[in-house]
Amino acid sequence: MKSVLVTGGAGFIGSNFIRYLLEVEPNVKIVNLDALTYAGSLANLANLPDDTRYIFIQGNICDIHLVEATLIDHDIDTIVHFAAESHVDRSILKPDPFIQSNIVGTFNLLKTAHTIWNKKNQHEVRFHHISTDEVFGSLSSEDPAFSETTAYDPRSPYSASKAASDHLVRAYYHTYGLPITITNCSNNYGPYQFPEKLIPLVIFNALQLKPLPIYGDGKQIRDWLYVQDHCEAIHLVLKNGKLGETYNIGGENHPFNIEVVNMICEILDELKPISKSYSSLIHYVPDRPGHDRRYAMNIEKIKNELGWFPKHNLSDGLRKTVEWYLANQGWVQSVMLEDNYQN
Ligand code: NAD
Ligand code: TYD
Repeated sequence: MKSVLVTGGAGFIGSNFIRYLLEVEPNVKIVNLDALTYAGSLANLANLPDDTRYIFIQGNICDIHLVEATLIDHDIDTIVHFAAESHVDRSILKPDPFIQSNIVGTFNLLKTAHTIWNKKNQHEVRFHHISTDEVFGSLSSEDPAFSETTAYDPRSPYSASKAASDHLVRAYYHTYGLPITITNCSNNYGPYQFPEKLIPLVIFNALQLKPLPIYGDGKQIRDWLYVQDHCEAIHLVLKNGKLGETYNIGGENHPFNIEVVNMICEILDELKPISKSYSSLIHYVPDRPGHDRRYAMNIEKIKNELGWFPKHNLSDGLRKTVEWYLANQGWVQSVMLEDNYQN
């Protein structure tokens, strides 16, 4: 791993990953290819640890000529593919960009990497694909957690587009021998997350004393993972993961949504008290169509094979996250000024 292309590196997880990789890999050069959609921002990449080893290219992964030139010009040996439309609610309102970026974009990257890396040894190059637990569908309260062999059963346009991209990545391994790895991860939270996802939305709304919307009965369950733990897992898979394999990543936290929101309110009550509890802003709203009830990840494979485990429990991770948003009001204000911030 000498020259790494990160796609979608101006988004939430990608920007955290770039920061992480620059710190732990002192000799690696990083090229970030990002279209800067509403979800991407250069503000997420301010004050990088060593920006002499970092290059930003604004562009779309669907632009095959740009992808080709990027791989050749920068002699890319590793692709870490984050770029995607990532929000379920937006995929329900307008699925089209999800099909383009998540499926066509991933196909473009695979096709180009295969063409350009064709003559290289399998162990000199790597295509790592970032995916989600949502490809596995929804669990009832009795079902066992998703494992790497659980059958795919996506239920939203977002998860269906990610499932399609996972299948394409595996197809390139089996058909053409492209050296790939895939990680399927649960819900992330932490610094630099756009406030359309539950945790930053609740923090942003609470700070503006706006209602905190809870879909349905608030008893849906997600497997929350602090973003830095995710970055560490991706790095380990890049270094020690087996070619062609998939690894599940999760936080081993399984609260109801309403419990997560109450925890955030309690932290804010302590760190930024107002005359009442922030929990008085909680407001139940109609449920999301096709709302998946429960996600949970079985992470035994990555634990046993690579020795990874999540270092943050939810209460530590949420406290760090709230503290970060309170301490980074410049970033919060810049996001609120964006056209697509609408809560
Ligand atoms: P995000 O929405 O914050 O960022 C996505 C980034 O991709 C943005 O910077 C955007 O500008 C860029 N992008 C989108 N379409 C593009 C295109 N066609 N060409 C180039 N750039 C494009 O997303 P995120 O939360 O950081 O998620 C990153 C990846 O991780 C996604 O693939 C997502 O499916 C996956 N994932 C996310 C979570 C989560 O909880 N956020 C959990 C599991 C997996
Ligand atoms: P979200 O952050 O959108 O992630 P995902 O849908 O990919 O899991 O939502 C997390 C959970 O929170 C999900 O069950 C939907 C719920 N939710 C709300 O109750 N209110 C909200 O305003 C949002 C954005 C999500």
